[in-house]
Amino acid sequence: MSDLAKAIVTVTDLVKRFGDNAAVDGVSFDILEGEVFGLLGPNGAGKTTAISMISCLLAPTSGEVIVDGASVTRDPRKVKCALGVVPQEIALYPTLTALENLRFWGRMYGLGGRLLEERVAEALETAGLADRARERIETYSGGMKRRINIAAGIMHHPRVLLMDEPTVGIDPQSRNHILETVKELNRRGMTVLYTSHYMEEVEFLCDRVGIIDHGKVIALGAIDELRRLVGDENVISVHLSELPAGVLDALRALPEVDSVTATAPADAAEADEEGAKPEVDETVMVQVLSKDSGTVIADVVSVLGRAGARILSVDVREPNLESVFLHLTGKSLRD
Ligand SMILES: Nc1ncnc2c1ncn2[C@@H]1O[C@H](COP(=O)(O)OP(=O)(O)O)[C@@H](O)[C@H]1O
Ligand SMILES: [Mg+2]
Repeated sequence: MSDLAKAIVTVTDLVKRFGDNAAVDGVSFDILEGEVFGLLGPNGAGKTTAISMISCLLAPTSGEVIVDGASVTRDPRKVKCALGVVPQEIALYPTLTALENLRFWGRMYGLGGRLLEERVAEALETAGLADRARERIETYSGGMKRRINIAAGIMHHPRVLLMDEPTVGIDPQSRNHILETVKELNRRGMTVLYTSHYMEEVEFLCDRVGIIDHGKVIALGAIDELRRLVGDENVISVHLSELPAGVLDALRALPEVDSVTATAPADAAEADEEGAKPEVDETVMVQVLSKDSGTVIADVVSVLGRAGARILSVDVREPNLESVFLHLTGKSLRD
């Protein structure tokens, strides 16, 4: 992408208050034409509220959003034509087939006749579900529903696609399909705003990222620029069978250690679409940030050993977006 790429979405000092709570609290960023822009932040950070204002579903308390030259407050019809929206909640009729749902959404976007049928077929192809098109949505898995939800958002060939946490709580196969679909749509020229609390997805997909927490963008830039915010710190991840009491404080007391957090391994804590919890995983990932990469590992392992923790694996890495978030906020993305 050239440095001269122009902004297709401009968000300026955007605010949304619910009573005393500022869900979005003075957010500004640009999305450049042709890029995948990530909005990365934990649950409750304000991602859905921001997307709702960009897509004209929610009126801003103050601030402005311009999409393809049109203002969300003064010209919402033009904004809606330029946008495709894949909401966090599934927006499909369960008793209708996938084909019927897509025809419905296509008509909502003003498509009809042969063009509608072409676009429905194309969207089903993109979703990888052409062979299941005549089955009712209620028979679909959570991941398949999400793929149809994405298909519904792209039938009118929007210039910008807004995707709000499209992979939460679904099977790995559908997740991979969705990530590849985003890449493919972007290769074909679509600009994408992708929100997530999974740093791995954002690192895989995005050109530039805004990190959002408590309604504010706390860092903004290309992924390499953000990594540099952490400086020369290493991330030591230790997978433990369980977390002995007091062990985090003991790690924090080590002189070479800058910060420590503990989280459940990715996804284990999250229920899937049908509300079924994946098999119970009591293991814990402990992340330690340290400038030292020599003696600190031995010290960390020895503290954990003395506390009686069973270590399943140890991994040392360069900073990633998770460590950037940890560095800026002192907490983990999945807290
Ligand atoms: N309609 C609403 N009324 C009151 N509070 C809301 C409403 N929608 C969101 N919030 C609050 O705004 C904050 C941001 O929520 P949200 O935008 O959904 O975050 P995210 O999508 O990043 O998880 C949360 O504290 C949430 O409880
Ligand atoms: Mg949300």
